[in-house]
Amino acid sequence: MGMAVPEKILTNADLEKMVETTDEWITTRTGIKERRIAAPGEATSDLATRAARQALEGAGVEPEQLDLIIVATVTPDMSFPATACIVQMELGADNAAVFDLSAGCSGFVYALDIAARTIESGAYERVLIIGADVLSKITDWSDRSTCVLFGDGAGAAVVGPVQNGKGLLAADLGAVGKSGHFLTLPAGGSRTPASVETVEGGQHYIHMHGNEVYKFAVRVMGETTKKALAKCGLTSKDIDVFIPHQANIRIIDAACRRLGIEDEKVFVNVHAYGNTSAASVPIALYEAYHEGLIHDSDIVALVGFGAGLTWASAILKWGR
Ligand code: UT7
Repeated sequence: MGMAVPEKILTNADLEKMVETTDEWITTRTGIKERRIAAPGEATSDLATRAARQALEGAGVEPEQLDLIIVATVTPDMSFPATACIVQMELGADNAAVFDLSAGCSGFVYALDIAARTIESGAYERVLIIGADVLSKITDWSDRSTCVLFGDGAGAAVVGPVQNGKGLLAADLGAVGKSGHFLTLPAGGSRTPASVETVEGGQHYIHMHGNEVYKFAVRVMGETTKKALAKCGLTSKDIDVFIPHQANIRIIDAACRRLGIEDEKVFVNVHAYGNTSAASVPIALYEAYHEGLIHDSDIVALVGFGAGLTWASAILKWGR
């Protein structure tokens, strides 16, 4: 695995000078204390490539050995070519098929399930999956209801065959397309192409109904985790390490209460990075592992939710 975040740290104190907010409001409502913000000119593929290099090194895999690269993102460098193509070029992964995957903050877990299935089928042996987003570039920095929530980052993993009984045990992916309007970037696509009016109207920024996403998140995190556990004959009691999407500490707490997961099994780093969208789950997984919290044969549950509205959960038995 690998991760990358920009150098620049934006604290709640910094935000107090930009919009009408307080450290107290942000901390109590979200758990976030600071987030990383990409430099001008720093794009999703830059962070994705850094995270990918670290993952390849850790896995002992050369870029040319990769069969497939999936980049989960909602902030591609540009509409096309896919950001995965740019990452392929940067890595020199010339033998890899590539595509981007748009499932919001659930993207990395979506990519993991797809990667595992292509490996299981025998089609591919080594798949690089990356969750990377630079939401700061599509954030309205005058809108206090969204600008305090997000940060930039990337997380990557090399997925390959493992010993029998280990690896991805089960996953549950889904979406409620009819609720998609609760979290959108309205303009810049084929429905409403970019124009002076769309720019002046702030239509290239994140538009979100926070309360609706909140309710969806709390409900769906419990439901999808239970579904994925049931598929492999486990229950929430079997989870050793729980890695939830790092959007809001209150959402994480509420979901864990519903699932009956004890605090000490839950990994949280939302205070340090905010919501990094598709990068959130892999960064949390990376840090949990490197902090020594995940051991061989542990049952690790990943769960995400996001734009779509999508959800995704995965149950892993840790080990090579
Ligand atoms: O990855 C998926 C992405 N999305 C999410 O995860 C978002 C999920 N939703 C949430 O995390 C929460 O809904 C928020 C953190 C966005 C908002 O928390 P909330 O407890 O639902 O607050 P609210 O939207 O109900 O707003 C409460 C009050 C409002 O004032 P009034 O109308 O009660 O006077 C807001 O105007 O807080 C106000 N407010 C703020 N005050 C200070 C909203 N943002 C701020 C702010 N600072 N930054």
